[in-house]
Amino acid sequence: MKFNSILLLSSLSAVALARPHDNACWSEKFNIPCCQTTKEVVRTTYDGIWGMENGEWCGLGTESTRPKDDIPPSPPALLDLDSVVDPAADCDISNVITGDSLAQEAPFRFGVGFNGAAVSTSTTSSKVMRELVKYQFNSFSYSNLMKPLFVLDQAGCQKNFKNGSNEIALNFTPFVDGLDYAQKNGLHIRGHVLVWHKQFPDWFFREEFDDAKEYVSEEVIYERLENYIKQYLGFVNYNYPGVVDVWDVVNEAVEVLEGKFDNSTGWYTRTITYEGDRNIWYDFVGPDYVVKTFRIARKYALPNVKLVYNDYDTFAQQPHDKTQAIIDLMHILQKEDLVDALGMQSYIQPIDPPFEENVANYDKALQRFAAEGFEIQITEFTIYATNGEDWLETQVYQYRKMMETIMKNYKNGANITSVTVFGLQDGYRFYESDSTKTRLFDHELQKKPTYEAIMEVLKAYNAEVNDESNIESDEEISVDADVDVAEDSADDDSDEE
Ligand SMILES: *[C@@H]1O[C@H](CO)[C@@H](O)[C@H](O)[C@H]1NC(C)=O
Ligand SMILES: *[C@@H]1O[C@H](CO)[C@@H](O)[C@H](O)[C@H]1NC(C)=O
Ligand SMILES: *[C@@H]1O[C@H](CO)[C@@H](O)[C@H](O)[C@H]1NC(C)=O
Repeated sequence: MKFNSILLLSSLSAVALARPHDNACWSEKFNIPCCQTTKEVVRTTYDGIWGMENGEWCGLGTESTRPKDDIPPSPPALLDLDSVVDPAADCDISNVITGDSLAQEAPFRFGVGFNGAAVSTSTTSSKVMRELVKYQFNSFSYSNLMKPLFVLDQAGCQKNFKNGSNEIALNFTPFVDGLDYAQKNGLHIRGHVLVWHKQFPDWFFREEFDDAKEYVSEEVIYERLENYIKQYLGFVNYNYPGVVDVWDVVNEAVEVLEGKFDNSTGWYTRTITYEGDRNIWYDFVGPDYVVKTFRIARKYALPNVKLVYNDYDTFAQQPHDKTQAIIDLMHILQKEDLVDALGMQSYIQPIDPPFEENVANYDKALQRFAAEGFEIQITEFTIYATNGEDWLETQVYQYRKMMETIMKNYKNGANITSVTVFGLQDGYRFYESDSTKTRLFDHELQKKPTYEAIMEVLKAYNAEVNDESNIESDEEISVDADVDVAEDSADDDSDEE
């Protein structure tokens, strides 16, 4: 009885204390609490002003600063999964959704890049693949379906224009199934990508969004870019808060190959694509397109969403030091608090240049990025397959070696917060004749020896860390301490990002 009334009293006083915030906590709809005591503004975005308490973001003030009539659209209809013929229906994945899990073993997020260039071929359209992914991974990205080419809606833009509106029209159908799947299963999405010189439609830069008309001015391109990013992030923030909590904001803006860069910036700004086309962003906007895009992204992203600069061959030393160019670009972005992490795509050649040389350069690049204190995400981890009969043996050796290099740097303090392998399986079942063989799961969706090699490296890392914490702790409490360490690190993973 006495116990009850104490409980009642304390819950009453909790209600009384909480009341001033009850209706006022505008940021809860973004899964971010309101600040309890701090008044210090740490960041201002389109949605509101933000502070920090105990290292976590919180909403300041009594309401959102987003105009009341500016409500992002609701999600479009989801795909009826039962209507899809699942190309993986006859794969028995019982050994893959029990036992070892990459997500559980890794001390950082472990993700996978989804293939598919339409909803009908997307990894999310297979029930079996969905089951596998949610057991083995805790993060994913789309290799295509979140790119501007798929999201920007030309007919919609033209319709708006004819009706006197400059609003950019977006189509969220290509990836809405992934948002829903991630939200329901506690997975996170790396949004990929807001601005890239490829897979960004040319009509976006032209008058009346018409392929045949002239290019618009830099000023108009900027208005369009801001409107597009505002709507894109607004839709995701509003309907799926916390799901897409990492964005590749700009992709591949650094180029060190002769004749393909403008070094007046000091960071080798790309002027020509790898294939030899002009970089349309550089041509029409100039080298500051990167900084300008990040400014827009920061304005419309929730404060707990990480903004990433993502690039390939980040470890290249020839003909110029690409690692240094990226460090220099990151410093420019950091000066304005515009970037949270560096994305290392990590496509690795197995023979030419020699693998051992690639690993050595990769190792050095990781060390240099870590020395700068950058948060690092390994975003498109792929080692290309060799042609010989021993391709699998070679691949197992090379994935092991790369993963050991990653874990060695992690152990030495490199702030690696995710590793994402690109593509789920060899011979992707949604395609008629896919011959890719770089992935961790085979055509039957079984674990390849490549998977096992990575798993062994992760387990060796965990064993080493546990051993060290045993030595450090008192014998008496070592068993308990172990359990705590394991639980803490699991919690850190889910809270941190
Ligand atoms: C045209 O714009 C008006 C005012 O913004 C809006 O109410 C109307 O629905 C639009 N019509 C079409 C066909 O988009
Ligand atoms: C590019 O600019 C950086 C920074 O100013 C400089 O250190 C480097 O030598 C330049 N590279 C070339 C090839 O001019
Ligand atoms: C890694 O980066 C995250 C996010 O910026 C930060 O919270 C964390 O403290 C960093 N960890 C280390 C070891 O620097």
